[in-house]
Amino acid sequence: MTIILIGFMGVGKTTIGKALARTLNTDFIDLDEAVSIKAHLDISKIFEQQGELAFRKLEHECLVDSLKHQDVVISTGGGIIENLANLTLLTATDAKIIWLTSSINENIHRLLQDTNQRPLIHNSTLPEFWALWQERQPKYSALADLTLDTDQKTPSKVIDEIQQHLQQPTPFDEQRSRIDTVDHRVLSQLVNRLAVVEEVGQIKRDQAIPVIQESRMAAMRQQLRLDFSNQLPNELIDNYVSLITGIAIKQEQEL
Ligand code: S3P
Repeated sequence: MTIILIGFMGVGKTTIGKALARTLNTDFIDLDEAVSIKAHLDISKIFEQQGELAFRKLEHECLVDSLKHQDVVISTGGGIIENLANLTLLTATDAKIIWLTSSINENIHRLLQDTNQRPLIHNSTLPEFWALWQERQPKYSALADLTLDTDQKTPSKVIDEIQQHLQQPTPFDEQRSRIDTVDHRVLSQLVNRLAVVEEVGQIKRDQAIPVIQESRMAAMRQQLRLDFSNQLPNELIDNYVSLITGIAIKQEQEL
């Protein structure tokens, strides 16, 4: 089966596509690379010298060519959905289209780390970036057979999710993908919390302040109940506070 990865610039389509093809033991086609080879120019040079329209034409031709292959992984450029002819092709194909999503925050973070020159980002302001992001989301969504959340995940975790879906699909694979992201986000926030606890512990130690402060813990619990009891069961809030304060106390006492 051919797998087509779609999604916004910087979401990781090329990295994941390459590794996925290796895992599935299939060929890999990167459409941006195919365009660049066809034009004998870097993507940014094509935009610069020939304009976006010329790039889109080449991109379409490369998509047509790539769909002639069987059992390949194809990673597309973020703007593949900008061309109506591509939408027609992608709607008609029986390849599996996977939309790799991310939050805009994480996407910007990844783009800032990426050395790849992206002409559409290079000269755009934040409002323009936001508009492009907003405008494209429903287009990806309309094409996708499967949507996977890549936030907080390594490429190999995303590949596991894809493989899991290919081997044993369930009707809630997309929701599971989102749950995994939430769990990772919660735990990475706990890493931040532990770092702050460490600072508190050092101040208490330096100023000979007792580690355990019952009133502070009671106040925390009460405040969290007040703020979250409409959305979360009190049992969860209480267990969370007990668990997290227990660990913080241990951490501070060990300093
Ligand atoms: C584009 C995305 C790029 C590349 C070109 C245009 C876009 O690919 O095709 O710069 O319109 O979103 P990536 O999504 O791989 O960055």
